[in-house]
Amino acid sequence: MFFERPDAGEICVLVHIDFAAGLNQENLTEFGELAISAGADPVATATGSRDRPESATFLGAGKLAELAEIRQFHDAGLVLFNHSLTPSQERNLERRLGCRVLDRTGLILDIFAQRARSHEGKLQVELAQLRHLSTRLKRGWSHLDRQKGGIGLRGAGEKQLELDQRMIGQRIRSIRKSLARVHGRRELGRGARRRADLATISLVGYTNAGKTSLFNLLTGAEDYAADQLFATLDPRLRRVKLPAYGAAILADTVGFISHLPHQLVEAFKATLEETVAAQLLVHVVDAVGARVEEHVEQVHAVLAEIGAADIPRLQVRNKIDLRAGFRPRIDRNREGRPTRVWMSARTGAGEEELRRALGELLGEDMRQQALVLPPSQAGLRSRLLGRGCIDSEHVDEQGNFHLLARLAPDEARRIASLEGCRVGELRSNRSSPQYLEQSEYRSQGTVSGRQNSVKFRF
Ligand code: GTP
Repeated sequence: MFFERPDAGEICVLVHIDFAAGLNQENLTEFGELAISAGADPVATATGSRDRPESATFLGAGKLAELAEIRQFHDAGLVLFNHSLTPSQERNLERRLGCRVLDRTGLILDIFAQRARSHEGKLQVELAQLRHLSTRLKRGWSHLDRQKGGIGLRGAGEKQLELDQRMIGQRIRSIRKSLARVHGRRELGRGARRRADLATISLVGYTNAGKTSLFNLLTGAEDYAADQLFATLDPRLRRVKLPAYGAAILADTVGFISHLPHQLVEAFKATLEETVAAQLLVHVVDAVGARVEEHVEQVHAVLAEIGAADIPRLQVRNKIDLRAGFRPRIDRNREGRPTRVWMSARTGAGEEELRRALGELLGEDMRQQALVLPPSQAGLRSRLLGRGCIDSEHVDEQGNFHLLARLAPDEARRIASLEGCRVGELRSNRSSPQYLEQSEYRSQGTVSGRQNSVKFRF
């Protein structure tokens, strides 16, 4: 393994300092959860307040002595800071405390490293770790020290340092190359989906809100939904069927977290691309969690940062089974558009409401269109059929497909531009159905199916 991480159950001490200036207000409970999520075993917490961090050791002399005592008392091998430390602060603290010190970024990176499932996710984590650690190289590579015989052999020396730097540079270059290749493949996949005209719905939300559980519920997937932070790191894609709409792709993404260090947002931009490319975002919120509105704001901030602020959104208030009095329901705005769905991904209550709301939102601008496709477009016809958006069909003697299908305007235009295809929009006038003329072709035909048999003109 290229990097070491805390072993499961590694005894650790947490440090959280409140700064008067309002810096680093991350919640202590969440920090504890993060530590456990990384596999650490927090046995004590040192808290305090200061005006600003001490430049050399982050903590003042008194607090540092107290921390050293706590650490020694518990024989902890690791001290975790709920803050960002500079490389030199980390180094000085390690020397003074006589154990490993990790800051918040290092801790989150470690969790990411454990959760990464796909090849791409793993590469991204390693790259982020390398960048984070390269600034900290001076303290020596303890994993190399250990390989040579363990503690006591610290400070591997100048030669070793040069070697490490060269090694790290090579590894970064090779990861970048692999990532570019993976990125290309992902683009191909996305292109294929676009060709199949499938809309993507991306699940976003604060970590532990229930995205994976919801993904599993909607797609019937049996994936592991752990009560751990960041159980999901890599986007996963599955098909879902929505009433009054048809098929779409659902993407599960990494959980957001408050004060996600900027470099991590950068590192995971590729993972979050699925979110940016989505037609609709489902923002999953733990309806009964602490500081709900704060988490909602944090998610909005990350979405803005990755350029997804303008994508239409539906909020899901999840976990209603945990509080009496909550019933599944759809909240709507004045125009009757769904804005929020109350449900439980665990019990499935509200699943129907969610599917309905999703179908309504995606199908919002869809209109029934009359299509004529030549036999050479049989592939397009079967893709439309697979999506469930064809209401009726008739094949004429020449083998042309005459369809009534629900399509978004863009898609109708795209199909109209294909060779041999004709598209006309159905105007819903019950007494005399008419079709908007959208092409130069003129023909007559009969379409039968769910609708009554109607005459149409192109
Ligand atoms: P990250 O991968 O960390 O972003 O988490 P996530 O948002 O994917 O959450 P996940 O689905 O892993 O759920 C987190 C925890 O909440 C798990 O223990 C789930 O079993 C639990 N959970 C999810 N949905 C519900 C729900 O509707 N009701 C209850 N009671 N628990 C739920």
